[in-house]
Amino acid sequence: MQEKAEAQHILSMNSVEVLYDNVMLAIKGVSIQVRKGAMIALLGSNGAGKSTTLKAISGLLKVERGRVSRGEIRFAGTDITEMLAQHRVEMGICHVIEGRRVFEHLTPDENLIAAAPAGMSRSALEAEKDKIYEYFPPPGRASQFAGRLSVRGRAADACHRARLVTQPSLLMLDEPSLGLAPFLVQEIFGIIQQINEKEGMSVLLVEQNALAALEIVSEGYLIENGRVVMHGTAEALKANSDIQEFYLAAARASISTTSSITVGANAG
Ligand SMILES: Nc1ncnc2c1ncn2[C@@H]1O[C@H](COP(=O)(O)OP(=O)(O)O)[C@@H](O)[C@H]1O
Ligand SMILES: [Mg+2]
Repeated sequence: MQEKAEAQHILSMNSVEVLYDNVMLAIKGVSIQVRKGAMIALLGSNGAGKSTTLKAISGLLKVERGRVSRGEIRFAGTDITEMLAQHRVEMGICHVIEGRRVFEHLTPDENLIAAAPAGMSRSALEAEKDKIYEYFPPPGRASQFAGRLSVRGRAADACHRARLVTQPSLLMLDEPSLGLAPFLVQEIFGIIQQINEKEGMSVLLVEQNALAALEIVSEGYLIENGRVVMHGTAEALKANSDIQEFYLAAARASISTTSSITVGANAG
């Protein structure tokens, strides 16, 4: 039974603790499972431990003097807890870090070239670019400098780069909606959803904007003070009063711009 469950999981994180600087316990026994092809949200307020969780999975803790001090992380059945970050990338783990920005003085095309792996052939790059642009047709494509693109263009550009770097089988996005107007959040989330459905890519989406995230994922985890305090289907989480309180507070903050993002919450 357990073996079967393991085979269905692209990611399995078991009772993971993370220490920064050998003293700061940032996450305290986090367990998260992502089924192959699933789209999962990791929700929680600022400082809860969401980014730390992603860094533990991608191996980026090291550069911040952090380490997994307890527990185990398995990817596609392999224990990756101590694996170098670059090897995890090669295995198909892609982590788009919080606040990821493009090189603003480069065009979208140039940004893609800059993000391409060293050994990639010109023809492979062109083929990959065409595929990426199917999902994210950038305004003005090659001609415009990325710095002059719309916010949507820039967010899409960060996604282009993520896809190109690894063709990941697990895409982890850290707050892709941060700083975007609500209608743009819906657009970006729609694109993430398409990548998940059409490419069969598993997605672990970190969001403070729980309301928007729960519209596109099948399942979610709520993390508070370094611990998972809730786990359930998107439907169950949306119906939960604690979650409602949590996401309504977040939604209220951005409600003045447009009401489009609140539709999902009130429709059901
Ligand atoms: N590089 C670091 N060194 C020390 N403490 C950190 C570091 N990064 C994050 N923390 C601490 O770990 C906790 C979780 O942070 P983080 O994972 O960034 O939360 P979230 O992404 O949910 O906002 C916070 O208390 C934060 O201050
Ligand atoms: Mg964070």
